[in-house]
Amino acid sequence: MHAAAFAWAGLRGEYRAQRVEPAALPAQIAALRRPGVLGANLSLPHKEAALPLLDALSDAARRIGAVNTVIHRGGQLSGDNTDAPGLLRALEDAGVGAQEGAVVVLGAGGAARAAVYAALTGLGREVYVVNRTPQRAQALAAAWVRPQGAALVRAVDVEGVPWEQVGLVINASSAGLGAPEESPLPDFDFGRLPAGAGVYDMVYQPHETRLLRDVRSAGRRGENGLGMLAHQARLAFAAWTGLEVPPQVFLGALHEKLDLKRTAP
Ligand SMILES: NC(=O)c1ccc[n+]([C@@H]2O[C@H](COP(=O)([O-])OP(=O)(O)OC[C@H]3O[C@@H](n4cnc5c(N)ncnc54)[C@H](OP(=O)(O)O)[C@@H]3O)[C@@H](O)[C@H]2O)c1
Repeated sequence: MHAAAFAWAGLRGEYRAQRVEPAALPAQIAALRRPGVLGANLSLPHKEAALPLLDALSDAARRIGAVNTVIHRGGQLSGDNTDAPGLLRALEDAGVGAQEGAVVVLGAGGAARAAVYAALTGLGREVYVVNRTPQRAQALAAAWVRPQGAALVRAVDVEGVPWEQVGLVINASSAGLGAPEESPLPDFDFGRLPAGAGVYDMVYQPHETRLLRDVRSAGRRGENGLGMLAHQARLAFAAWTGLEVPPQVFLGALHEKLDLKRTAP
């Protein structure tokens, strides 16, 4: 995606994937301060471990507790999280989540924290978190309380969700990732959702998961995570270069790389 964006912008930039062992993270982060380096993206487990190694954090990175984008300016490194705004743009593009009602977040890792942040600050909705390990959902919810102590986010089990009041379900768990038959809500009747409600599955490989098949066969709208992946990259590229590259450049590169035409049903 970034190679395509550099080419579109006529820049001689280069984006490299690099495997970094946890013990090497401080040295690798320090190396980003070199002249000519624009920044970096981080993936698990570095998204959380990098926080104390940076000079500044955006509000999103601090509240989510995860950095996916490091921006270098004159020797200073700032951390941002483009997953949350990327998710919001992807929801808008897909027309999923416009329906009023609560948001259900499946999962309790970094992606789930970004989804909760997006749902609260971007959509202004009530949030329910459902996770395979309930204690992790409870810990996530505990981080979001009003100063007076009222809960903004509730950790519940599947039957604790008021499904008839839900407008959007976000799968931020890894269920389905590389496993087309795995679902975070196996055997769930998505007909329990209001007619206009939708499901956003952050998983993009495979592009049609069992979750999305179940959602669509119940007549509800479902969308995979490709749009979010493209938008989080677009926003990172804009932070590094100051250039707004059209989302189609990122999506086009993804489609080509993942060979979606060939795997489409
Ligand atoms: N589209 C995008 O741009 C984008 C961006 C970020 C992340 N993602 C995707 O979001 C997903 C989560 O990423 P993450 O960084 O938050 O990972 P993570 O921190 O490892 O969290 C994984 C979460 O998934 C749950 N989980 C794993 N396997 C499960 C299963 N079989 N059934 C039910 N729950 C399961 C875990 O539950 P436990 O707590 O019980 O272990 C945990 O809550 C991944 O698929 C990732 O690729 C997509």
